[in-house]
Amino acid sequence: MSTGTKARVAVLISGRGSNMAALLYASRLTDCPYEIVLVASDKGHAAGLKLAEAEAVPIFAAPAGLKKAELFAALDQALRSSGAEFVALAGFMRILPPDFVAAWEGRIVNIHPSLLPRYKGLDTHKRALEAKDLIAGCSVHVVTPELDDGPILGQVEVAVLPGDTPDSLAARVLIAEHQLYPRALADLVMRDRTPEALLQRVRELAMALPGAEEAVSHGMSCFRVQGGKMFCYFTEDHHGDGIIAIIAKTSGPDEQAQLIDQDPDAYYRPAYFGPSGWIGMRLEGAVDWERVGDRIASSWSLIAPRKLAMLREF
Ligand code: GRF
Repeated sequence: MSTGTKARVAVLISGRGSNMAALLYASRLTDCPYEIVLVASDKGHAAGLKLAEAEAVPIFAAPAGLKKAELFAALDQALRSSGAEFVALAGFMRILPPDFVAAWEGRIVNIHPSLLPRYKGLDTHKRALEAKDLIAGCSVHVVTPELDDGPILGQVEVAVLPGDTPDSLAARVLIAEHQLYPRALADLVMRDRTPEALLQRVRELAMALPGAEEAVSHGMSCFRVQGGKMFCYFTEDHHGDGIIAIIAKTSGPDEQAQLIDQDPDAYYRPAYFGPSGWIGMRLEGAVDWERVGDRIASSWSLIAPRKLAMLREF
């Protein structure tokens, strides 16, 4: 898998960053479906930042003394400018504010050193030993507003040994963490790139437009306005062309040519539809969903009845 088609992941750390390093080195193996585009920290002195820098990964260290809202605004800004699609928390010691979680819904993951739902929060190894657990372990989960909650993506169990201390157990669990995190993250980003997941995102964008209805035409899922004209098709390997894309209307051949000229990797002149001024927009690699949403909306405006178009303006 070449750079450019890989999912863009930013890692948030507060300290040592060994999980960040595990994600980073895994990303450099052939066929890893993600790349690390940023390592950011709430602490300027986090040791992991030095490692990331030495590995030529862009870093961001939040300035000291920010209030919580300012810190998360700064982090959000850094994440957005890195083009990150996913955020991996790796020993990031701040509780995320709900609006930050909402802005990245379903795209933030965390690693936690226990078999969740057991031992949320801190001191997990001490608590596992006090409970005389025979099995400890680690979990990777999707982040939701509640601490250490959210759907579990993967877990690895680690045997507790006689005489284990919180430190000795932590050291073994950490080895397991380094195996689990890259795999769980890779699975998540792959899931996001399946044709079904891509269609679902297109569907959400298209169906948010007034009067939109879903239909099937020529074996393709498509979207039309109130039983009338189509404004967006979802094409997946149509006639074996290997392309996953949306096909949307443009104002005509000039706009179509201009778009292809501007970004020939993203846009193409689709078979059958091309001659009537439709444009193909590939949904491969790191998709700019805002741009896809704008394209679907402008296609919709070209065919929506005036009454509906006015609805959208107000
Ligand atoms: C790890 O044990 C992780 O599970 C927890 O914090 C620790 C971070 O270690 N969330 P590191 O910074 O990744 O080395």
